[in-house]
Amino acid sequence: MRKKVSIIGAGNVGATAAHWIASKELADVVLVDIAEGIPQGKALDLLQAMPIEKRDLHVLGSNDYDATANSDIVVITAGIPRKPGMSRDDLLNTNYKIMQDVVGKVVAASPDAILIVVSNPLDAMAQAAYKISGFNRERVLGMAGVLDSARFRTFIAEELNVSVENVTAFVLGGHGDTMVPLARYSTVAGIPITELIAPDRLKQLIERTANGGAEIVKHLKTGSAYYAPSSATAEMVEAILKDKKKIMPCAAFLQGEYGIDGLYVGVPCKLGERGLEQIIQIKLTDEENAALQKSAASVKELVNVIGV
Ligand SMILES: NC(=O)c1ccc[n+]([C@@H]2O[C@H](COP(=O)([O-])OP(=O)(O)OC[C@H]3O[C@@H](n4cnc5c(N)ncnc54)[C@H](O)[C@@H]3O)[C@@H](O)[C@H]2O)c1
Repeated sequence: MRKKVSIIGAGNVGATAAHWIASKELADVVLVDIAEGIPQGKALDLLQAMPIEKRDLHVLGSNDYDATANSDIVVITAGIPRKPGMSRDDLLNTNYKIMQDVVGKVVAASPDAILIVVSNPLDAMAQAAYKISGFNRERVLGMAGVLDSARFRTFIAEELNVSVENVTAFVLGGHGDTMVPLARYSTVAGIPITELIAPDRLKQLIERTANGGAEIVKHLKTGSAYYAPSSATAEMVEAILKDKKKIMPCAAFLQGEYGIDGLYVGVPCKLGERGLEQIIQIKLTDEENAALQKSAASVKELVNVIGV
């Protein structure tokens, strides 16, 4: 039996995630959206690329959650993206209403699924999905850290003119201006980047990473990034479906880890067939810990506004 991944929201991130998932032949894909015709049209178009790509899987579009029944994973991308001048937090109330519409229907159709939330503001929306679904924390994750660290890796590889494959990077904290790129744990072929890039320059790369989403919004004007976000989502999907036990930064519901309790924040997570299989606790310096706590506090503010 092939695995099944449903994607709620067939906009830029959702449709492109379907594209990556199909191109890697990870699972059958169902795209759902409130917009009539959009998921059907995009799904049919993607399906017709499968003979060329030599991929045997099904892609279906629908406005109805029946089509998502018994999904292994449901990715939630429904929601408005930001426009120039907006912060992710400005999306809070609109996207929370959308979460309230979507999550119950997802859960009714796929009570055993693992949820990957992508809609912004990410950590607060992951927390909303966790509370609305009633699932345990192992089955509700948020995608942000894989994207933020990929941005950091891109800038490091360009800076040092080395293969992106050589670069690992870690970004912790909420998906916002307070995210915490961890230079000490970021390496090039095992060498900490703090040994390879001067502190001033490193600071610039860290700032560019933290503003990575806004830089793209400024170019696009009509929406936000979607190729890298959807690729990051597909990496999480792959780690779960293939039970890879892969460690990557994800938003997870912390219950005392890193001194944070009852809140979704980005931390290193081991992903496997059960979803979140372990939260990896790494030692932070006082400065790094202070930055993480500050980031968590800004997530907490949002979560308090919507009361989840
Ligand atoms: N976590 C991250 O790192 C990250 C990265 C990029 C984008 N995002 C977020 O992902 C979300 C989607 O971004 P996008 O660029 O794909 O936006 P988009 O506007 O292209 O697509 C969003 C889709 O959601 C649909 N939708 C709205 N309400 C719905 C509902 N109730 N049920 C089903 N579908 C509904 C819309 O019709 C639209 O097709 C945004 O909130 C954006 O901020 C997060």
